[in-house]
Amino acid sequence: MSLAIHLKDVTKVYPGVTALDNINLQVKKGTIHGFIGPNGAGKSTTMKIIAGLIPPTSGFVEVDGIEALKNPSEVSGRIGLLPEQPPLYLGMRVEDYLRFSQEINGAQEEGQALLEKIIERCRLQDVRKRLIGNLSKGFKQRVAMAQALVYGADIIILDEPTVGLDPNAIVDVRDLIHELKKEHTILLSTHQLHEVARICDEVTIIDKGKILRTGPLEVIQSEFSAFKTYEVLVKSLSQTLKDSLRAKSFIQGLDILDHPEGKLLRIRVQGEDDIRGTLARDIANECSLLEFRERKMELEEVFREVVRD
Ligand SMILES: Nc1ncnc2c1ncn2[C@@H]1O[C@H](COP(=O)(O)OP(=O)(O)O)[C@@H](O)[C@H]1O
Ligand SMILES: [Mg+2]
Repeated sequence: MSLAIHLKDVTKVYPGVTALDNINLQVKKGTIHGFIGPNGAGKSTTMKIIAGLIPPTSGFVEVDGIEALKNPSEVSGRIGLLPEQPPLYLGMRVEDYLRFSQEINGAQEEGQALLEKIIERCRLQDVRKRLIGNLSKGFKQRVAMAQALVYGADIIILDEPTVGLDPNAIVDVRDLIHELKKEHTILLSTHQLHEVARICDEVTIIDKGKILRTGPLEVIQSEFSAFKTYEVLVKSLSQTLKDSLRAKSFIQGLDILDHPEGKLLRIRVQGEDDIRGTLARDIANECSLLEFRERKMELEEVFREVVRD
């Protein structure tokens, strides 16, 4: 499968901060690629470099196989970016702003037809003549999305597109991303990990400027099937039991939560062996065991495990 985006050994150093430390990233054509990581991980920096807004300190960027740093004008029209903070021109009317985006990004023959299609797709028909500054936050975000789509780029980069939106607006953006999936390659950064799990084909996890994991969603998830979390409800908890649980090598983490019926132990375990029997017996020997269940690891927990290392 050919690559829409390929970063090789990309480093970005700001004064005093290494925002990206020698990262490699491959986004396959026609896929939707989730880009996740905590605040300050380097997501926006990576996206701005791909879109050609800022240069890397070192490394290579290929877009559709073209060396982007040497051919910026050839690459810019292929990428549509929804930045973290879209620079909307508040005094412009929606339609004029979108036409302006077409012009500065290389207008095409079918510009007008594309404009109509994008206005419809982003459901901006009713506000096309309105001033951007007077629109609600949700509508402003749709205008910003439209701005990234309106000049016909194949590759769409969305930097946390649902942050700060109300639930209805989030649904709108999610629906739109689903629709874009048919025609575009999408790189999507987000904190909404359940969204990633729902719509992405591939996932890259980044933290402190380093790529920690990258690959197909199911591979990333299954890699962590060795991590399990058990929830154990006990009537009371003795210090002896606490100490003996903490001493077990297969227990990676132990949280003790208050519960109306006693204490809820959340036990994180690593290893392929099924230790449920042993664990339940040990606990039952020390106290009254009310409930024992396994929690399946969600992507969010996978993510926390990876970032914890
Ligand atoms: N213009 C800048 N000047 C200095 N440091 C910056 C600049 N932009 C980002 N950084 C730093 O680079 C790191 C990565 O930031 P960013 O790419 O915005 O992360 P993310 O989008 O994952 O939250 C952070 O430590 C941030 O403070
Ligand atoms: Mg960011």
